[in-house]
Amino acid sequence: MESATIEQAWERYATSGRTPRRDVNAAGQATWFNWTSHQDYGPDETILGPLTDRSVLELGSGTGCNLAHLTTRGAHCTGMDVSPTQNAKARERWGHMPGLAFITGEALEFLTATDETFDVVYSVFGAHWFTNPDMLLPLVRKRLSAGGVYAFSNTAAEDVPPLGPKAAVTRFDFTRATWEFTLRSHGLHNVHVEVLPPPADGGQRTGLAVGRT
Ligand SMILES: C[S@@+](CC[C@H](N)C(=O)[O-])C[C@H]1O[C@@H](n2cnc3c(N)ncnc32)[C@H](O)[C@@H]1O
Repeated sequence: MESATIEQAWERYATSGRTPRRDVNAAGQATWFNWTSHQDYGPDETILGPLTDRSVLELGSGTGCNLAHLTTRGAHCTGMDVSPTQNAKARERWGHMPGLAFITGEALEFLTATDETFDVVYSVFGAHWFTNPDMLLPLVRKRLSAGGVYAFSNTAAEDVPPLGPKAAVTRFDFTRATWEFTLRSHGLHNVHVEVLPPPADGGQRTGLAVGRT
């Protein structure tokens, strides 16, 4: 799919009146990390390992709320997103934070063009979910430093209906076993893929994967 088509689809999403993340979470924190689509639920950023002075890249960073939190943990953060509107929202809310930059671009194109390396690359319901992993993972692997971490989350494959042939985007809904195989076959080690149950009040399960170089 061409990047202009991807941008158009995600601009529609970004301008569809989405509710911004709350100002504070249930614990009263102004920034926090959420791997799931449920409020105040699931693991936090600690699964990424140490963050102080680490360079971090988020693929499909949206309004930048997770990345802003990693900045408070001492990471040097870059968010990239294909939607100019998402990046504008991210800059408006978090642009004042030091060590945090937002770049507009398509993930495959960005990873192909950059010569930077990152200690942590991750994606939360982001570009990872919507990009062919056989194209994305070799590029991610190349840009990860030795001992680097790659992680992503999305809705568990079994909990979402397949996209129809007329869908504006492509989505890669793999089972846990397929993700384990795919990450390992692209040179990631210590791969751990889990499916988080929904919170007690219901909803969808979340697939969460971590691998290391
Ligand atoms: C469902 S939103 C999630 C945003 C954010 N990660 C969050 O958790 O709130 C998906 C995001 O990925 C971005 N995205 C999708 N495909 C992309 C691609 N190929 N390159 C860059 N960004 C992409 C979209 O513009 C959108 O902001």
